[in-house]
Amino acid sequence: MFVSCVNWSHFPTMRRSSSHVVVVGVFAALLLSQVCSGIKWLALSHVSPSLHINQTQHCKLLPGLVSSQAQLCRSNLELMQTIIQAAREVKKTCQKTFGDMRWNCSSIDIPIDAPKYRPDLDRGTRESAFVYALSAATISHTIARACTSGDLRLCSCGPIPAEIPEPGYRWGGCADNLHYGLVMGSKFSDAAMKMKRPGSHANKLMHLHNSEVGRLVLKEALVMKCKCHGVSGSCSIRTCWRGLQDLREIAMDLKTKYLSATKVVHRPMGTRKQLVPKDIDIRPVRENELVYLQSSPDFCTKNDKQGSVGTQDRQCNKTSVGSDSCDLMCCGRGYNPYTEKLVERCHCKYHWCCYVTCKKCERIVERYVCK
Ligand SMILES: *[C@@H]1O[C@H](CO)[C@@H](O)[C@H](O)[C@H]1NC(C)=O
Ligand SMILES: *[C@@H]1O[C@H](CO)[C@@H](O)[C@H](O)[C@H]1NC(C)=O
Ligand SMILES: *[C@@H]1O[C@H](CO)[C@@H](O)[C@H](O)[C@H]1NC(C)=O
Repeated sequence: MFVSCVNWSHFPTMRRSSSHVVVVGVFAALLLSQVCSGIKWLALSHVSPSLHINQTQHCKLLPGLVSSQAQLCRSNLELMQTIIQAAREVKKTCQKTFGDMRWNCSSIDIPIDAPKYRPDLDRGTRESAFVYALSAATISHTIARACTSGDLRLCSCGPIPAEIPEPGYRWGGCADNLHYGLVMGSKFSDAAMKMKRPGSHANKLMHLHNSEVGRLVLKEALVMKCKCHGVSGSCSIRTCWRGLQDLREIAMDLKTKYLSATKVVHRPMGTRKQLVPKDIDIRPVRENELVYLQSSPDFCTKNDKQGSVGTQDRQCNKTSVGSDSCDLMCCGRGYNPYTEKLVERCHCKYHWCCYVTCKKCERIVERYVCK
């Protein structure tokens, strides 16, 4: 059987409910995931928070790892806890960043053993481009921060910059260890895409490129952070270090790149096949742009084959003019109003000394969901 990433959705048997067929389906899904998907490790977000990885046998209990990732687990147990945390961060950040869009990153949450597949993430779409970039950025971000906070014994603060600081500034504090984060993060997250297995070469190139874009955005997110010192907060001296911006901001940058991503094709360029922009194929792919191979559906209606859950019953915003507006979110189908009772703290009073009392006020707000 020859399998490649794009065949992923051509397994109608997986949808039948006979238990035997489902078991076969799960097996096929796991097999396929080994071949194609470089983000199966995101299944780690389902690992119970009470599992404390401190023995090499624990690596076998972890879902979604390819062999070289399992090996990294055994040789660096301590790092796994941080990688599991990164998987949770990717899920949370993706869903937050796309909460106002038709595609809202819900498929990232399908457990590894579910007899379901994620065509929106396993086909080479714009959405998968975003998820790969975010995953690569997040894993390195989480590791870099874990070095700083002392969670990892094998790394510590990043180096002190070589430049001489401006007057009134001095280097100090603990820099986020971006270098270590990038080295270990890419080693882990690119592992599946670097395996020599059958599978679509074009998809692997696409995923690797987008992962690099994620790391590039992360590198740009290393900024100077300072703390004030001096008599009664006069700030005559500032201690500064290089720290990473929050993931949320990095994800917003990547969302902008998602919106302007470039469609590419896989074709010979010189001696080997490469990804080149589809429409303007005179220029090579830029290192800072997200690329995709397959167009996405409009995500308006439910379509399992394309990985679209549709926008029926999604909340929309009647006054917004953005992507969460009822017009855009509901694809012109219209929307239904409903009311919601909000309970808020109000009429708060300060009592000397030292507590505050509040009343509870109820407020009725009108909300809308797509038809
Ligand atoms: C592993 O962690 C668990 C839970 O924290 C602890 O009970 C156990 O003693 C640890 N085992 C080893 C070998 O450190
Ligand atoms: C995303 O949209 C689906 C389909 O409307 C909905 O069921 C789900 O709750 C949404 N997920 C998030 C995280 O908002
Ligand atoms: C709806 O959109 C408007 C304008 O963008 C915004 O001010 C408001 O907070 C949004 N309402 C909700 C419930 O998100």
